[in-house]
Amino acid sequence: MKTEILTQNQKSWNTVAGHFNGIDALPSFGPFAQTDEELQLFEAIRDKKVLDIGCGSGHSLAYMKEQGAAELWGVDFSEKQINTSNETLKGLQANLHCAAMEEDVGIPKDYFDIVYSIYAIGWTTDLDSTFNLIYSYLKPGGYFLFSWDHPLYAHLHSENGFISLNGSYQAEGMTRYENFKGEDAPVVIPQRKFSTYLNSLIKSGFTIEEVVETDVPLQLRNIEPEVSDRYYSLYKAQKFPTTMIIKARK
Ligand SMILES: C[S@@+](CC[C@H](N)C(=O)[O-])C[C@H]1O[C@@H](n2cnc3c(N)ncnc32)[C@H](O)[C@@H]1O
Repeated sequence: MKTEILTQNQKSWNTVAGHFNGIDALPSFGPFAQTDEELQLFEAIRDKKVLDIGCGSGHSLAYMKEQGAAELWGVDFSEKQINTSNETLKGLQANLHCAAMEEDVGIPKDYFDIVYSIYAIGWTTDLDSTFNLIYSYLKPGGYFLFSWDHPLYAHLHSENGFISLNGSYQAEGMTRYENFKGEDAPVVIPQRKFSTYLNSLIKSGFTIEEVVETDVPLQLRNIEPEVSDRYYSLYKAQKFPTTMIIKARK
């Protein structure tokens, strides 16, 4: 099931991995977004078996361990990221799989209390298969919690602080970027509508429990920021959610 896009993205993630060491990791849900300390979306983590989809540098799994998780599992298709995860989690027992989230590589079924993913799920080249697999990993009653770019966010164009729509939100498909993180690392990122994520979860059998379109953290809410056209800025995040967070139960 290894598509050309998957192979290309995997190669590029190995190139850019160093840019993401400890970035987009719990308790953060995303850039300029409330953390789980504020939102409290995870229920008690103590003694729970957890699986991280797109575990990156392993910092979210380390956070899970700090909260008392019983078993740490992770999947990421970048060998570089898996190596970094191993470093981050040194001395801890962790089951890490270097594999695409779209593939069934033998992760146990009906096993996990919590499957989560922080800023990784939107990379999947096959959303339905990925959600079907995640559903199969969970015990009945377990939940899946993920965060990703708010689907409209990538369409926001900002000029002198004036925000407008870039391209079409209606057009779903793949967008190729030649220089991910300024490196010679072409990537292809799927563009999907908000409803596509919700409908795919429903089709997989999930019950959607909570949907968050993030705001900035409380302590940044009353700050008057400088006007900024950067992709992520406090100025933009005070006006539009950077991140969507969805909690869905099996
Ligand atoms: C922004 S990072 C996630 C950071 C991570 N949540 C953490 O706690 O450090 C996105 C990760 O998704 C992984 N990734 C992207 N596409 C993937 C795929 N199709 N299958 C598995 N992992 C993928 C990348 O290798 C990268 O490590």
